[in-house]
Amino acid sequence: MIGLCVNVDHVATIRQARRGEEPDPVHAALLVELAGGSGITVHLREDRRHIQDRDVELLRRLVKTKLNLEMAATDEMIEIALAFKPEMATLVPERREELTTEGGLDVHGHADEVGRAVRRLREGGILVSLFIDPEHHQVSAAARAGADFIELHTGSYAEAKDCKAQQAELTRLIQSATTGRGLGLRINAGHGLDYRNVGPVAAIPEVEELSIGHSIIARAVLVGLERAVREMLAAMAEGRAWCEVQIPPQPPFIKGEQGGISYDV
Ligand code: PXP
Repeated sequence: MIGLCVNVDHVATIRQARRGEEPDPVHAALLVELAGGSGITVHLREDRRHIQDRDVELLRRLVKTKLNLEMAATDEMIEIALAFKPEMATLVPERREELTTEGGLDVHGHADEVGRAVRRLREGGILVSLFIDPEHHQVSAAARAGADFIELHTGSYAEAKDCKAQQAELTRLIQSATTGRGLGLRINAGHGLDYRNVGPVAAIPEVEELSIGHSIIARAVLVGLERAVREMLAAMAEGRAWCEVQIPPQPPFIKGEQGGISYDV
């Protein structure tokens, strides 16, 4: 079964708006687990704009599924990861001025630096995932770097303007997943996924887990977190079912259709 790792950074963003104590991303993480999430992701950024060190410390003690620490490959973050020992660390590029993580990590262009970070984290007993664009040279560089997982960046798929562009992006994701698996990597995916576009990505057989934040927390503000997580799990299961009954590949999603998930077959 495909897993859902929920990013609770946005809960911390609301808390930091008042520099107070509520809402607590630790409470959110526990509700995600009760609703069936397979893991919790937090991004401890250099500028500490949302998640704080205290959150990572508490989550490390309380999360029962899996804690995935998203982080830049800097010495400071590597030391923190080695101290807290999350089950997984996902290396991402980080720029201060960005609103969220933008492109994937350029593993190909920074092979030595990334390889060193991967080694240190793995020696500390932490599984390492590299967040990369779905490009052949990045996938093979990730395998050379010794990563356990790649997380395929689904941002271009999510932002595609029409069905044709979305189909082309989906094909890139499928090709990257197949290539990665062939090179011995395990495959995750995420960024920009929502209730309407998640199905075809969830249907990629090589993908073990999706990492989703914004759409779930945005819905949770209105309907509650447990319901928001359960509805995402249902949308993912619906996407997987397409794959399992062998319906021809990659049903394109119809953008803008209200209610439920619709495919153009
Ligand atoms: N994966 C990575 C590596 C990310 O940086 C993010 C955003 O923090 C996500 C997944 C989740 O993206 P979104 O919030 O758009 O669902």
